[in-house]
Amino acid sequence: MAANTAALAWRAAGAKVRALPSLRGAQPSSIFSKRPLVCRQWAVRYASDTANTAAASEAATETVKQAPKKAGRGSRRIVLGTSLALTLLVGYVYGTDTRASIHRYGVVPLIRLLYPDAEDAHHIGVDILKTLYKYGLHPRERGNPDGDGVLATEVFGYTISNPIAISAGLDKHAEIPDPLFDLGPAIVEVGATTPLPQEGNPRPRVFRVPSQKAMINRYGFNSKGADHMAAILEQRVRDFAYAHGFGVHEQAVERVLNGEANVPPGSLNAGKLLAVQVGKNKATPDSDIEAIKQDYVYCVDRLAKYADILVVNVSSPNTPGLRDLQAVAPLTAILEAVVGAAKSVDRTSKPFVMVKVSPDEDSEEQITGICEAVWNSGVDGVIMGNTTNRRPEPLTLPPTEQATLTETGGYSGPQLFDRMVALVARYRGELDARAEGEQEKKQRKVIFASGGITSGAQAQAALQAGASVAMMYTGVVYGGVGTVTRVKQEMKECK
Ligand SMILES: Cc1cc2nc3c(=O)[nH]c(=O)nc-3n(C[C@H](O)[C@H](O)[C@H](O)COP(=O)(O)O)c2cc1C
Repeated sequence: MAANTAALAWRAAGAKVRALPSLRGAQPSSIFSKRPLVCRQWAVRYASDTANTAAASEAATETVKQAPKKAGRGSRRIVLGTSLALTLLVGYVYGTDTRASIHRYGVVPLIRLLYPDAEDAHHIGVDILKTLYKYGLHPRERGNPDGDGVLATEVFGYTISNPIAISAGLDKHAEIPDPLFDLGPAIVEVGATTPLPQEGNPRPRVFRVPSQKAMINRYGFNSKGADHMAAILEQRVRDFAYAHGFGVHEQAVERVLNGEANVPPGSLNAGKLLAVQVGKNKATPDSDIEAIKQDYVYCVDRLAKYADILVVNVSSPNTPGLRDLQAVAPLTAILEAVVGAAKSVDRTSKPFVMVKVSPDEDSEEQITGICEAVWNSGVDGVIMGNTTNRRPEPLTLPPTEQATLTETGGYSGPQLFDRMVALVARYRGELDARAEGEQEKKQRKVIFASGGITSGAQAQAALQAGASVAMMYTGVVYGGVGTVTRVKQEMKECK
C-alpha cells in the first residue's frame, strides 16, 4: 500500500518537474551552442532530481502521516468484524434454541401483529420453519433433554423418547415434519390429507380468541391430495437414504423403509414416530359407505409406506356428515377396510392404525359404540379428541372476540382440557373392559390425548387418565416453538 502510494507520488512528481519555470527558461541559445546544452542537461537532471526528491519526500511524509490512521482503521475493522461475527454467533445459538424466551414473547406476538388473519399467520409460520430448516437455521432442542430417559415411554412396542406429540392440522401437507421433530416431540402427526386435492371452505376460516388462547377453525380438509403428500414423503426417505449411505437406487428407499437404517420407517428418527392422518373428500357422498371406504383406502394405499401410525379422521366438525361415521356400523366398516389396507402395505413392519374421535359424541351409547368398532375392526388405538362444536361457558370477552365465538367451526384451546381428560378416562375404562381374553389384555388399546394441553402438569394428568401420549396444537400456536421443550421440562419437574 505504502509502496504504491510512493510510486504514484513519484510519477506525479515527473509531471510537476516538466512544468517547472526554471526549465522553461532553459531554452537553446544560438551564441552558447554547446556548453549551454551540457548546462541545460545538467539543469534538467538537477531540476528533475530535486523535484522528484521533493515529491517523494512529500509522498513519504504523507504516507508516514497516513500510516497510523490506516492502522487505526484496520484495527477498528477487525474489532467491528469480530463483534459482528460474535453477535451473529450468539444470535444464532440463542435464536435457534427452543428454550429462548424470544420465541414465546417476541416472535408469537410479532406474527400476530403482522398477520391479523390466523390462516396467513399459519402459512407464514410453516414457510419460515421450512426455509430456516433448509439452511440449518431452524429452532431445535439443544443439549439432548430426552437423553436422560426420564420421559421415555413405550407405544406400540417402540420406546419413544417422550410422550409429547404435535397433533394434526399444524402440518397439513407434510411440509415440515423434520423441523417439527426438532422442536422436541416424539410424535408428529401430519395431515389430514384427502384422496383428491380439495380447497376446503372459503376464507376466512381460522380465527383467534386471544384472551382465551383459543382458536376456531373451519378449514374443511384443505388438502393437496394423497398423491402429493406421498411424493413429498417418498422424497424425504430418498434424501435420508442418500444421506445415510444407502445410495440413490430404488432399493435404497426400500431398504430404509424395511428397517435397515435402524430407525422407524415413518419418522426416520430413533425414538420418534410419524403419524399420517387421512380423511375423505367433501364430494364423496355421505350415504355411500363403499365410496367413503374407498376414499380412506386410497389414502392408505398411497401413504402407509411412509407412516409409523395411520390416523383415520372421522371427527372433524368441518366436513358435513363426517361425524356421523362414528356410528358403530359405518365406523366398523371403514376401520376394517383401513386395517386391511394397512396390513397389505409392502413393508416389513406395518403401520399401526388409530381413529381420531370427537369430544362432542360423548353419550354412553356413542362411546360404547366407538369402542366396539375399535375392538371389532382391529384398530390399535384411539385419539381423544378433536376440536369441539361447543363454546365455553359465558365469558366476559372483548366484543370482537365475542363475535368470533359465533363463527362456525371447531373450538380448540385450554377450555377443552377438563372434558378431554374426563373422556380419556372413560375411553380407557371402556376399552379395557372389552379386553376380555388374555391375548386382548396384552394388546391394550393405545390412547392419545388431544385437547387443551398447554403445560407439563396437564400432559401428566392426561397420561394418568389413561393416555400414552399428550398431543398439542393450539398451545404451540400461542406458546411458540419452545412449547414442547417447556412442557417436557415441567413434566420432569412434576415427577
Ligand atoms: C387450525 C386448526 C387445524 C386443525 N386441523 C386438523 C386436522 O386437519 N385434522 C385433525 O384431526 N385435527 C385438526 N385440528 C385439531 C387438532 O389436531 C387438535 O385435535 C385440537 O385442536 C385440540 O387440541 P388443542 O387444544 O391442543 O389444539 C386442527 C386444529 C386447528 C386449531
